[in-house]
Amino acid sequence: MTHVEREDAVAVVTIDRQEAMNALDVATLTELRDRLRELAGEDETRVVILTGAGEKAFVAGADIKYMSGLGVVEAKDWGALGHETGRLLETMPKPTIAAVNGFALGGGCELALACDLRYAGSGAKLGQPEVNLGIIPGWGGTQRLARACGLGVAKELIFTGRIVAADEALRIGLLNGVHDPVLDKARETAASLASKSPIALRVMKELANRALGGDHGANLAAEGERFAELFASEDAREGMTAFVEKREAIFKGL
Ligand code: CAA
Repeated sequence: MTHVEREDAVAVVTIDRQEAMNALDVATLTELRDRLRELAGEDETRVVILTGAGEKAFVAGADIKYMSGLGVVEAKDWGALGHETGRLLETMPKPTIAAVNGFALGGGCELALACDLRYAGSGAKLGQPEVNLGIIPGWGGTQRLARACGLGVAKELIFTGRIVAADEALRIGLLNGVHDPVLDKARETAASLASKSPIALRVMKELANRALGGDHGANLAAEGERFAELFASEDAREGMTAFVEKREAIFKGL
């Protein structure tokens, strides 16, 4: 089951399958994908937080019992559903924040990696243990872990399946911060982001997502275009006027 709780402009999405450490089966992952699709298109939601129900786990991965019965064709669909869910977190036009409580393993670590920001509680444990099952990370882990931690660290973690505690995860760049309770920190950052211009955030996310790929010159040219275009927005006018008038800006996303 996946709950969505809206608090002002912030949506908290909670994956809730506590009897299996929030491991994702087809029903839960499909529901998560559907909820994220809705939130991606909802203008009134400016920031999305992803977390797991209970204290034990964020998500302990894809459901291994389900996967053990799959053939090649079914596994391809299963991988595609995970990829689609990760792409929604990565590309939806608003910031996404993972609040990692407990275990974030395999597909759980991969969904956290697909979010823009990652916070964890001090007891969190993260990793890609797929190698111990004779498979590979299949929801983005072979690519996004390297983007967060660098290729050498990523290869060590995916080759060995070693699980890292929160303090190490912070040191290697897998996390943005370690805080207890983690959801409070995620909410605090989300509230701060929700007060900023959603247009500027959308454009920054789109451009930042290009930073580690494609042609550097073309990416800088795109930044130049988008920078100039934003000067047509009311939010830009408001932000700069508020600075000059020494008051807080109120951004409407216009
Ligand atoms: N799939 C299915 N069930 C899972 C699960 C998973 N990924 N993780 C935990 N569970 C279930 C357990 O089977 C158990 O259920 P039963 O009591 O019915 O057997 C219940 O959750 C509680 O788990 P444990 O008794 O194992 O709890 P623990 O505290 O001893 O250990 C754990 C916790 C370290 C997270 C351990 O459960 C574990 O190692 N889980 C698997 C982690 C894993 O390998 N994840 C990667 C999955 S592959 C993947 O995600 C592929 C991909 O890239 C998409």
